[in-house]
Amino acid sequence: MVNTAALVAAAASVLLSVPGVDAAIYTKNSPVLQVDGKSYDRLIARSNHTSIVEFYAPWCGHCQNLKPAYEKAARNLAGLAKVAAINCDDEMNKPFCGRMGVQGFPTLKIVKPGKKPGSPFVDDYQGARTAKAIVEAVVDKIPNHVKRVQDKILDEWLSDNNGTAKAILFTDKSPVSALLRSLAIDYLGSITFGQVRKSEEKAVETFGITKYPTLVVLPGGDKDGLVYDGEMKKEGMNKFLSQIASPNPDPAPQQAKPKKDSKKDAKKDAKASSSFSKASASHEKAEGSSAAARGTAISLEDEPTASPDPNVVDEDTPTPIPIPKTPELPSLATADALKKECLHTKSQTCVLALLPPPPAEGQVDEAASTALKSLLEVKSKHAGRKLFPFYSVPASNDFASNLRTSLSLKGADALEIIVLNGKRGWYKHYTGTSFAQAPVEDWIDAVRMGEGKKASLPEGFLEELPAEEPRKEPFVFHVQDEQGNDVGGDDLKIEVEEVHDEL
Ligand SMILES: *[C@@H]1O[C@H](CO)[C@@H](O)[C@H](O)[C@H]1NC(C)=O
Ligand SMILES: *[C@@H]1O[C@H](CO)[C@@H](O)[C@H](O)[C@H]1NC(C)=O
Repeated sequence: MVNTAALVAAAASVLLSVPGVDAAIYTKNSPVLQVDGKSYDRLIARSNHTSIVEFYAPWCGHCQNLKPAYEKAARNLAGLAKVAAINCDDEMNKPFCGRMGVQGFPTLKIVKPGKKPGSPFVDDYQGARTAKAIVEAVVDKIPNHVKRVQDKILDEWLSDNNGTAKAILFTDKSPVSALLRSLAIDYLGSITFGQVRKSEEKAVETFGITKYPTLVVLPGGDKDGLVYDGEMKKEGMNKFLSQIASPNPDPAPQQAKPKKDSKKDAKKDAKASSSFSKASASHEKAEGSSAAARGTAISLEDEPTASPDPNVVDEDTPTPIPIPKTPELPSLATADALKKECLHTKSQTCVLALLPPPPAEGQVDEAASTALKSLLEVKSKHAGRKLFPFYSVPASNDFASNLRTSLSLKGADALEIIVLNGKRGWYKHYTGTSFAQAPVEDWIDAVRMGEGKKASLPEGFLEELPAEEPRKEPFVFHVQDEQGNDVGGDDLKIEVEEVHDEL
């Protein structure tokens, strides 16, 4: 005789006792900073540093598969950018994950500080789920507050705010390294950073520089400059600079006095963020310790974690999770986002679906939903291959109507698909009558092949970007073959050393 009830009970208890089913994927000792819906704002959104945040669920297989690569990325980015994760399966975090538009696991978002603290730019990371690709994408978004100082502006730059400290890196390289950018962020507001190339003869002579790279600090006023002669590693450089000014505490200290019972939370936050602060601002062990010299905090150790097979990356689509929403094109909801992604003089090709105002409750806008579905289909067909980004632009975007007028499109209540390229100053307008997948796909293909008539974007329409330095080279990883597959296992180590040391 079988006692079904007992079996069921036994089975249930087995299920219940499976350890760690809803435990966080990342342990306390993980280099990945764990945040929650509450601490996100303080640790990530208000930071002056760039972060990448993984939204995950413990039960999601793809999330578990990502862990080794993600932790490796975290180790390699220590001191340069934050690598964080949030458990969206935790009841407490669910509303937050929903607000962040998370529709599948894992979702990775890169959070880059905006002009105002607390309103960062947040972009989905769609690249390969390898440490290398993640590191590259994040490094690319580390803000640059380092001025490239040429002979012709040297005097002006030096006398500008001459009471405040300035740090100057003399180097024979042209790009501004991630390391120097991260230091400039740590000392935002207290030390102004500049980079001078070896070829700037006047500057080199003025400072008597004979060796590259050399870091010089001018404390401000008429105090003598100091020359750093340690290793070009973050910890040593940080220690040197902190003689002049203190790095900004990150996370910023809380304004209100913590209440007794929130002490524990604060402690938790502090602990959670320790991997970053350790790397970016620790001077505790300063004196005589060889830790600085060894640069432990930004150690480049790279234990041989098996990197995920690049060939399966394409199939690594997020596991659907029970947030009741259909997939969507990334939306450019504000004029700033639109300009930043697609409407400046350097922007690459963007496909934009200009949406009509949302239909009334219970109604469906056939054209709009068909068009969005078609674009999503085309996009997913190209997943993993290089295809220009697709965005939707809601009617509520302040710049949407301006865009329609400037490009002589129809009125605000029509769905429009356009493709434009700011760098080359052209746009194309989808004029088909059907938004079904086949004609839309044909059109996109034609655009890709450079076919069809291009119209010129109106004069003065694009955001002028300040003439910037050429794209920094050291982070272009040349170790992918033409299919984008990783070539070789040890390459990351070399490249990441470049990330830290390219000065
Ligand atoms: C710094 O500025 C003050 C006035 O603001 C000026 O008198 C002084 O000469 C300046 N020093 C240098 C080195 O430019
Ligand atoms: C961010 O930078 C500003 C200076 O621009 C500084 O006052 C502030 O403390 C920094 N915030 C953090 C969290 O480091």
